[in-house]
Amino acid sequence: MSRFWSPVVHTLTPYIPGEQPQMQRLVKLNTNESPYGPSPKALAAIAQQNNDDLRLYPDPEGLALKKAIAQLHGLDPKQVFLGNGSDEVLAHVFLGLLKQSKPIQFPDITYSFYPVYCKLFGITHEAIPLGPDFEINVGDFKLPNGGIIFPNPNAPTGRAIPRSDIEHLLKTNRDSVVVIDEAYVDYGTDSCIPLLRGTACPENLLVVHTLSKSRALAGLRVGFALGHPALIEGLERVKNSFNSYPLGRLAQAGAIAAIEDQAHLQATSAKVIHTRERLTKELASLGFETLPSLANFIFTRHPKHAGGNLYQALRDRGIIVRHFKSPRIEEFCALPLALMSSAIN
Ligand SMILES: Cc1ncc(COP(=O)(O)O)c(C=O)c1O
Repeated sequence: MSRFWSPVVHTLTPYIPGEQPQMQRLVKLNTNESPYGPSPKALAAIAQQNNDDLRLYPDPEGLALKKAIAQLHGLDPKQVFLGNGSDEVLAHVFLGLLKQSKPIQFPDITYSFYPVYCKLFGITHEAIPLGPDFEINVGDFKLPNGGIIFPNPNAPTGRAIPRSDIEHLLKTNRDSVVVIDEAYVDYGTDSCIPLLRGTACPENLLVVHTLSKSRALAGLRVGFALGHPALIEGLERVKNSFNSYPLGRLAQAGAIAAIEDQAHLQATSAKVIHTRERLTKELASLGFETLPSLANFIFTRHPKHAGGNLYQALRDRGIIVRHFKSPRIEEFCALPLALMSSAIN
């Protein structure tokens, strides 16, 4: 603590992205990274960009990357917002779209960065309890609200809802922004991006993506949001009041090549899905109860072993997974499918 901290610093409870041990020879499975490398085309593009041009600032707008993303998803580049990882995109979303006079709503069990942003930006929120099977019921979000945000599939449960549920939510919730965090969408969930195409694009739907999971580029720090051009313009205002150059030259070059390499994405995601089904079956034969996951991790519990004990037993063997000491989920461990494939294939 320092007497020079501003008052807000004293109030913060920062997000911890899973335990980050420095010990050697640990199998670190707690941040849902990909077990497979990035697209070789992305690595080549980054290597090619590693040259004397690094003395120059990157394109602050990232227009070439916006065009590549827009082309892939059938959108206009004006519907694309870029950030230094989707966490930064989300930060701008909280400040630029979700800081309203009414509380925002998100599930009681969800990505634990959301309440951290609320605290940082002075946003009040209501936690909407998940259903008995840890599912999101869109009918449980209430009017009025300052906005709604949840991941689909949700984290850390891995449970997804169909796009039709989100379309229903948009019909009933017209006066605030609905943010769908699709960090894990490529492992079997229907994306909401098709809803954004053409003149039918809702003015209040924002979809957030990351290159950290299925594109295996967590180290490059690239995320993006897609939505109505007016929402994107609001986010650009925030970004340009914070950092004009969130994405460096290497990140932009690598991200373009990764976005263009759909074949690599599909091949590696299919392997993760295969591992998920197989691991879930093998764990079931050991008595584990696993929630139906559409993510690159599974959320599992054993009736005879407390979640904290499982976490510790794995840790003693040098394997770090995710365990949350929160009500309703402390019996569970989140097992990312990173490296599991090599362990059980
Ligand atoms: C639901 C969800 N959203 C966003 C992120 C942030 O990803 P990144 O900042 O690496 O793009 C994560 C990372 O674990 C996540 O689980």
